[in-house]
Amino acid sequence: MNISRLNYDQIADQYNQRYPASQTWERGQALLELAKRTNAKTILEVGSGTGFWLNGLSNTGAKLFGLDYSMGMIQQAREQPAPLLLTRGTGTQLPYPSSTFDLIYCVDAIHHFGDHRVFIREAFRLLKPGAALAVIGHDPHEGAAHWYIYEYFDTVYDTDLRRYPAGRSVLQWMEQEGFVDISTKVVEQIQNIHVGEAVLKDPFLKHDATSQLALLDEQTYQAGIERIRSALARAGERLDRITFRSEIAVQMQLGFKPNA
Ligand SMILES: C[S@@+](CC[C@H](N)C(=O)[O-])C[C@H]1O[C@@H](n2cnc3c(N)ncnc32)[C@H](O)[C@@H]1O
Repeated sequence: MNISRLNYDQIADQYNQRYPASQTWERGQALLELAKRTNAKTILEVGSGTGFWLNGLSNTGAKLFGLDYSMGMIQQAREQPAPLLLTRGTGTQLPYPSSTFDLIYCVDAIHHFGDHRVFIREAFRLLKPGAALAVIGHDPHEGAAHWYIYEYFDTVYDTDLRRYPAGRSVLQWMEQEGFVDISTKVVEQIQNIHVGEAVLKDPFLKHDATSQLALLDEQTYQAGIERIRSALARAGERLDRITFRSEIAVQMQLGFKPNA
């Protein structure tokens, strides 16, 4: 798979714009419930980014570990109110002793880890018996997403199909690596509708806001923006209002390391 990699250092200081304080996140709730269910005292997020989800777990009293490849993202995570134990590293080589964690999870990150199955193997090694791995994110293979970004920007959807593992593959790898009680469910339904020109203010439409658009060269990105502007102009001529939908199911694949 020859896909250029996104340098998160370059977008680290903008990244938290995607988490406006006014919004509640069901993903965060699902993580809290999982932390309680596993009675987690030690939690690791792989691809922890700016530490937004880890910070949301601070009330659990667990020790919160984060690992990320980008030093820029780690620096942002250091600004979180919760004390986070942060390490620079890669998802396929996790620098912790075996049987350390009660819960390991990743959010919107597994597609960055190169060999997805190796990450799952590493997670199995690091979990205590009875502990859980949760892989959270969207699955473009499911065909349930209606995301206007896929519609207006060339190559983005096809690139996502190549970058993201299918949820069913994640479940299969979990099983092959020894996980039990494996399940999948939708933990959050993202539903945003931008009406008319308001789409141009969508923070996710910025060139560097998501890996989908950041991977595009300037010309391809501008061609997508131009397509949106033309659609707006055509709708204006018809005195019509055009809508731009982001409807994405966020899934969680969950598995447990068997009790010894
Ligand atoms: C879309 S962001 C998600 C960050 C955070 N989990 C969140 O949901 O806000 C993806 C993160 O994966 C990190 N990343 C990319 N490649 C990685 C790798 N090989 N190992 C660990 N983290 C990686 C990036 O630096 C970035 O912080």
